[in-house]
Amino acid sequence: SLLEAIADLEKLFIVDQDKLKQITDHFIGELEKGLDHEGANIPMNPTWVMGFPTGDEQGTFLALDMGGTNLRVCEIMLPEEKGEFDIIQSKYRMPEELKTGNAEELWEYVADCLQQFIEYHHEDEDLGALPLGFTFSYPATQDYIDHGVLQRWTKGFDIDGVEGHDVVEQFEAVLKKRNLPITVAALVNDTIGTLIASAYTDPAMKIGCIFGTGCNSAYMENCGSIPKLKHLNLPEDTPMAINCEYGAFDNEHVVLPRTPYDVTIDENSPRPGQQAFEKMIAGLYLGEIFRLVLVDLHENKNLIFEKQDISKLKKPYTLDASFLSLIEEDPFENLSETRDLFESMLNIQATKPECELARRLAELIGTRAARLSACGVAAICRKKNIESCHVGADGSVFNKYPHFKARGAQALREILDWPKGKRDPIVLSSSEDGSGVGAALIAALTIKRVKQGN
Ligand code: BG6
Ligand code: GLC
Repeated sequence: SLLEAIADLEKLFIVDQDKLKQITDHFIGELEKGLDHEGANIPMNPTWVMGFPTGDEQGTFLALDMGGTNLRVCEIMLPEEKGEFDIIQSKYRMPEELKTGNAEELWEYVADCLQQFIEYHHEDEDLGALPLGFTFSYPATQDYIDHGVLQRWTKGFDIDGVEGHDVVEQFEAVLKKRNLPITVAALVNDTIGTLIASAYTDPAMKIGCIFGTGCNSAYMENCGSIPKLKHLNLPEDTPMAINCEYGAFDNEHVVLPRTPYDVTIDENSPRPGQQAFEKMIAGLYLGEIFRLVLVDLHENKNLIFEKQDISKLKKPYTLDASFLSLIEEDPFENLSETRDLFESMLNIQATKPECELARRLAELIGTRAARLSACGVAAICRKKNIESCHVGADGSVFNKYPHFKARGAQALREILDWPKGKRDPIVLSSSEDGSGVGAALIAALTIKRVKQGN
């Protein structure tokens, strides 16, 4: 029956306190392995961002922010004294077909957006050489700050000719061809941008997180705690921002409670075996997990949507996380909004019990995502002995998915055993669209460092 089906789903998707703790314990060891040597599961990429902004960064910078869903171009004027920055920006969508195209198409598109932005805002002006902070939200090996070799595409991207190459070099070649007077001063991950931008306004910020199309965090490490950089003889107490790339946590599949649906997602993805953690929690996958469960209940278990045409539902990635959000937010007791959604999006007439199952399933998937996400944050805090701090977070799931923040906070309490009734010592708060500002600040810091000759 449907009630039994719901009970089975609960068994599959509920992650209890013990499991959260076990995952976090394993996570800490994996973070350490990533700092120890190249080629570990979690990359722990050094980013050459070697300190927080002081507030005296100044100047005008471009920022280009290439995330999973949008491309943003910003121009940021950092004030003479620490305070509000002026920012103008345009958002462009990353066209779907680009995500599986080739390198040239990608860089031409990005350069088109940048060029349009400059022509619109600076018609006929001589700009001189404007420095640009490039937020590139994929794992990159950086030998210095304006360089980064793409380790692998994540978030469903599969563009030929970029993995294993320096993305700055490829991008600058296209800019040069167009005579655009722009130099990439820094290549920055979105988590690093978020960390730096949030720390600029709140010194208690110690971690930057993204819960969006993908899922990842960054924090400041000491060079002395990064054995894989030992050969460079950097002073032990010099800070180094680490882009964890912990979406890759547990690629070995030893601790995460994967369901058969998670296995299917992985197998059908362009990079099977990669991003095990991310594939269970990030926005790109939430709708797909939901869809796979419904198709299974219809086709193999004959439990739902009897005699209905489910051809729309059978199309992979046809539902995104906003579908689940809307179901979780359905305010009506009879779930009439959920019923309408199934009708309008999928051409399915769902019965009341089917809508109830869909609601519970959305809750289970959304809750699992939030609870597992907390393990990454808790692992960093425990590894660094951080007892209290602020965590800057961005991304569509964090900002828009109903109850995500509260569920994540509850999981942190369970993992870290905080006493009841007291204020939470570690708190996540929204740092929306901060990574553009972060990239500008990092570009400014870099230029300052170069001028000072270190
Ligand atoms: C944006 C940031 O606000 O959030 C990007 O500016 C980041 O740098 C993005 O990649 C993440 O969210 P999503 O949901 O678009 O993946
Ligand atoms: C993916 C990317 C990572 C990024 C995250 C959030 O995990 O690999 O670089 O920070 O998504 O956008």
